Amino acid sequence: MSKIVIANWKLNPATAKEAKQLAKGSDMADLIVCPPFQFLEDVAGVIKKAKLGAQDLFWEDKGAFTGEISGTQLRDAGVEYVIIGHSERRKNLGETDEMVAKKIFAAFNDGLKPILCVGESQEERDRNKTNEVVERELRAGLSRVLAEKRDIIIAYEPVWAIGTGNPDTPENMLEMVRFIKDLLKRIGSQLTVRIIYGGSIKSDNAERFLQHKEIEGALVGGASLTRGEIQKIVEIAKKYK
Ligand code: PGA
Repeated sequence: MSKIVIANWKLNPATAKEAKQLAKGSDMADLIVCPPFQFLEDVAGVIKKAKLGAQDLFWEDKGAFTGEISGTQLRDAGVEYVIIGHSERRKNLGETDEMVAKKIFAAFNDGLKPILCVGESQEERDRNKTNEVVERELRAGLSRVLAEKRDIIIAYEPVWAIGTGNPDTPENMLEMVRFIKDLLKRIGSQLTVRIIYGGSIKSDNAERFLQHKEIEGALVGGASLTRGEIQKIVEIAKKYK
């Protein structure tokens, strides 16, 4: 199966015009583009080969939930994938494991493919809590969908590696992949899982990760906004199908 590259634009760019330009330059197969909600339809109108993803969703489908967006609305805008439980939401918006679990369940209900983000902070790593944190986030996040025979992407993103220019090592990631696969077996998961890495991936370090068959893709933040970077990363991913 080919590797997957996910471009997480976060709160960028500022205008629809820039979003369309960025999308045009990123329109490649095996890429999932995740713009802010505001630009989903603009980007959907531009991309032909890339797939569309959202950066979040709410767990209810309609009702009195000011400021939220539902899976049904995302589907209607052409979205296929949705990032859930990104550390920036956990940290800045108080998103809990329970909320993440509800969102994963809602994504499946609405026919979206979830991208579940997990990973430890610097402090947790310093206290040797990496596996414990990842295990807790996965057990909780997947608790409502373990019996589903459906596709999900798990992105291991150590918080200390996000946006710092300081990625984890491929060796640690390979160990993490083994740990996650073993955990999923232990908890009886029926899900079809692809495990990818995120955190300071750029075109000049992507190959170190993607050359390993166990690392099935990359979640790219900052570098996905730099002209030419995402294309190079997708080309590297293609080499290691
Ligand atoms: P980064 O972000 O590539 O800028 O480190 C990754 C992410 O947060 O998904």
